[in-house]
Amino acid sequence: MLCLSTTILLASTFLLVNAGLPAVTVTTCEPWTVHRLSCEIGVISVETALYGRADTVTCSEGKSEQELQNTQCSLAGAVDVVKRRCDGKRVCELNSAAFVSDPCKDTFMYLQTNYTCLLITHQIICEHSLAHLQCAEKQVISVFSADYGRHDKNTCSYGRPNSQIQNTGCSSPTSKVAESCDGKNSCTIRAGNSVFGDPCVGTYKYLEVAYDCKYAASSQGESV
Ligand SMILES: *[C@@H]1O[C@H](CO)[C@@H](O)[C@H](O)[C@H]1NC(C)=O
Repeated sequence: MLCLSTTILLASTFLLVNAGLPAVTVTTCEPWTVHRLSCEIGVISVETALYGRADTVTCSEGKSEQELQNTQCSLAGAVDVVKRRCDGKRVCELNSAAFVSDPCKDTFMYLQTNYTCLLITHQIICEHSLAHLQCAEKQVISVFSADYGRHDKNTCSYGRPNSQIQNTGCSSPTSKVAESCDGKNSCTIRAGNSVFGDPCVGTYKYLEVAYDCKYAASSQGESV
């Protein structure tokens, strides 16, 4: 009896985990400090993002009616900005500098992002090293995201002079990993300027990759 219920519990936990985690909503009111998304397990997959105002309740404390009345206000393309910065990361941060324009004058805005945490492989490869992506037998790589740059001072910092780890705003999402690896069972690619170009000269960088392993459509007869 105990054994049976444990099995059911395990089975349902397994299903839950594989179905992905529930959606998370993060809302940051103006004036911005930092909009931070994170996944305890898995990597961020941004679903929607709103920069503006869509109701009179969110971020309304202490605000005048006038600052809240425009609820039809949002910056077009905000979701792409957040996706570019955050998809495939365990943690990401942005502030208003990531958005070039203020879409709604006289309105008190906020940034709201809805995302889930995908349970896929996440790897960080320090500059000059080789990334090795590998799937189980009969499975092939499907790259979700790849970014060559630097987003904090700790990652790939051992033994590096301070000057090479100061620039933490260096981001260059790249499709090169997907071009080299998608559809293969394994793949090796150098994390270096020779492959990705140099998005921030003088900074020691790293490649951050998130990928999934899927059964090849031909061998399974299904697309996932
Ligand atoms: C995020 O999800 C909540 C709950 O489903 C929804 O009310 C809200 O409008 C969503 N926000 C965005 C920016 O899509």
